[in-house]
Amino acid sequence: MSDWPRYDMDFLNGRRQRRLRRTAWMRDLVRETALTPADFIWPLFVIDGQNERTQIRTMPGVERLSVDLAVKAAKEAAAAGIPALALFPNTPDALRNPDGSEAYNPDNLMCRALRAIKDAVPEIGLIADVALDEYSSDGQDGLVRDGEILNDETVAAMVRSALVQAAAGADIIAPSDMMDGRVAAIRQELDAAGHEQVAIMAYSAKFASAYYGPFREAVGSGKRLLGDKKTYQLDYANTDEALREVAQDLEEGADMVMVKPGMPYLDIVRRVRESFNVPVFVYQVSGEYAMIRLAGDAGAIDGKAAMLESLWAFKRAGAKGILTYFALEAARLLG
Ligand code: PBG
Repeated sequence: MSDWPRYDMDFLNGRRQRRLRRTAWMRDLVRETALTPADFIWPLFVIDGQNERTQIRTMPGVERLSVDLAVKAAKEAAAAGIPALALFPNTPDALRNPDGSEAYNPDNLMCRALRAIKDAVPEIGLIADVALDEYSSDGQDGLVRDGEILNDETVAAMVRSALVQAAAGADIIAPSDMMDGRVAAIRQELDAAGHEQVAIMAYSAKFASAYYGPFREAVGSGKRLLGDKKTYQLDYANTDEALREVAQDLEEGADMVMVKPGMPYLDIVRRVRESFNVPVFVYQVSGEYAMIRLAGDAGAIDGKAAMLESLWAFKRAGAKGILTYFALEAARLLG
């Protein structure tokens, strides 16, 4: 190499970008964004029974937990510095019907989990998902008649579902159904029932995505689902439409908004963050978890490193917080 030409580098004018990357302490000093356990919301899948845990084939490392074990998990999450959990029930088959009426049974699995965790771990926030697919017999987020997803009838069911969840101890109601008008209706009825302190995190920019596959196995809706969710979830070719959804949910009274999925939609996170002055959350969904996890398990990538890199990308894009199945693992690693 000693006889290779040396360039004079005059064009640099002394500006060398690598100075700030030379040592670990220097990189720490100039790092623009932070990732901490307080950034995470941990989604938990809940099942019936006592001391029961079941595997989810497509999500290694994630289990469905009976309520008593979910309480234990909540304690671990709180100890790791995670501020909130998002609960999803796997409703037993026998309780599912076309109306999804189990959604507003005040003693349903979701409500029992909310009450038990609120009682045992009052310091952790509880987010309740509102949508019919976790309760109905046909896997759609709304009521179905002659193949059509009914909007206004579904909103009435969502309101009833939100009310039993709030009464059971939900701190945040998170409608994920994408029906028009559900945020305003839920806000109105929560207030009327004395739950004016219960917040709404709207799944505002929720795209019709292939990345939800493992989740549908986890809650037991996938095998029932006929067709797709394209008449209510967003078209992934669009970004202005996502902003219109966010604007409308905020007008209707949402306190926070969410973009979902995460990694393929960082541009939406950034645009929402820059367009609205509200906390923006992002959901790193089940398929994203599966991709990183399975590639890591196969030795194709360093799974832990890829996990942290993906989570950091959400902070860089402007997310206030991240729903991720990696929450506990990442919180322990960072904490
Ligand atoms: C249901 C709901 C879904 C997810 C959260 N709430 C699935 C869907 O819309 O089909 C997906 C979460 C994930 O994939 O991790 N309303």
